[in-house]
Amino acid sequence: MSVLIRNGRVVTAADSTIADVYIEGERVSMIGTSLDVDADVVIDATGKLVLPGAIDPHTHLDMPFGGTVTIDDVTSGQTAAAFGGTTCHIDFCIQGQGQTFAEALAVWHGKREGKAIIDNGFHIAVTDLQNGGTLEELATLPAQGVTSYKLFMAYKGVLQVDDEALFRTMQVASETGALVMVHAENGDAIDVLVKEALAAGNTAPIYHALTRPPEREGEATNRAIQLARIARAPLYVVHVTCKEAVDPIAKARAAGWDVWGETCTQYFFVDQTFLERPDFEGAKFVYSPPARDKSNQDVLWDAVRTDALSAISTDHCAFLWDGQKTMGRDDFSKIPNGGPGLEDRLVMIHEFGVRSGRITLNRMVELLATNPAKLFGLYPRKGTIAPGSDADIVIFDPNRKKTITVARQHSKSDYNLYEGTTVTGDVDVTLVRGTVAVQDGELKVEPGFGQFVKRAKFGEQLL
Ligand code: URP
Ligand code: ZN
Ligand code: ZN
Repeated sequence: MSVLIRNGRVVTAADSTIADVYIEGERVSMIGTSLDVDADVVIDATGKLVLPGAIDPHTHLDMPFGGTVTIDDVTSGQTAAAFGGTTCHIDFCIQGQGQTFAEALAVWHGKREGKAIIDNGFHIAVTDLQNGGTLEELATLPAQGVTSYKLFMAYKGVLQVDDEALFRTMQVASETGALVMVHAENGDAIDVLVKEALAAGNTAPIYHALTRPPEREGEATNRAIQLARIARAPLYVVHVTCKEAVDPIAKARAAGWDVWGETCTQYFFVDQTFLERPDFEGAKFVYSPPARDKSNQDVLWDAVRTDALSAISTDHCAFLWDGQKTMGRDDFSKIPNGGPGLEDRLVMIHEFGVRSGRITLNRMVELLATNPAKLFGLYPRKGTIAPGSDADIVIFDPNRKKTITVARQHSKSDYNLYEGTTVTGDVDVTLVRGTVAVQDGELKVEPGFGQFVKRAKFGEQLL
């Protein structure tokens, strides 16, 4: 099977040129002007952008959490991703208490078996080094293509690890070529504030934000950076929301340390006041770390522009408002933490990042595709358009208007964080490994098409 994408503007992290892209089988074989080749399928991309498929390094599909299970399974979550121009994602495989890592991975592989629409890998989330997985077993995972270790410094009594587990995992990572990822919030201190708020009768969604102040994120971020430095492990801080956390990351990066940070789409658009919406609607915006004071949105735009932060993910962790979020009607601490967003990242960042002049198109590609690929061992197979790369490609119409609404989304969630937002620019076609996955508003591949990707070790290439 061959595909020729004609006459589009091919945008990578480095370049932007009008060109044809020729795909043979699953990979790009040629890029050039007026290519004189025959193809089984020809797509005219005149006036369109031809982008590398976006890569989402932070998702939670079919994950037990907060007393329930996230509403998007692999098929619905990845369908939403494909419609939004995301062709590969890395999901968190959570080690259950008492589970070995092999057992946890078997469960997560089972969730995607026969259900995958796009490609994905797994991060391993280390939660129990006492009764379940061992450091020795952890050390074997990079060879299986699981090359990132995630630790939660929050969610006390559920997912949180102590500093010893964090530090020991970092030491293993420095030996095995894994990247350490942290959810950086001080879970012990948050737990005290949550108990105080509830004892005072403060049960509304806004107390989720008020009990998780930015200083707790800044403290944990700096602690993780310093520990990673001692352990000589590369560190990636997920879902950074505020100046208190951006500053230590920027400082470490300026000093040349192996530290990177990610923020998520929602932190540019949703601020703390959303949690005050009446009739429990504020619960739709309960996720951790919480939405911050609006002033932080400029801090984040500045950080992604200057490379203080190097990636934008979604942290897609979707729940229903009606039936799942409402579990916390009388107690904000029982609202499952997380929000949807897998489908909306590219159009939102294109509209409010690129079209608003905050970042360039090249930088958007870098933040949404190339940097995630490089950091998580997918590059250059994925994250760019080049001869030899997987033909994970999005044909994007920069002039088509779209209003984001729950009625047209592909996530199973019953709300959208950006409801009613109109953007100019939308996905026309999504190709995954040379196969058209989405076109004309229709899904063209069957569940089971997506492949598990064994990722390269940190700093190594995936060819
Ligand atoms: O609230 C969030 N972010 N839920 C998903 C789990 C996590 O902390 O990333
Ligand atoms: Zn988190
Ligand atoms: Zn997350």
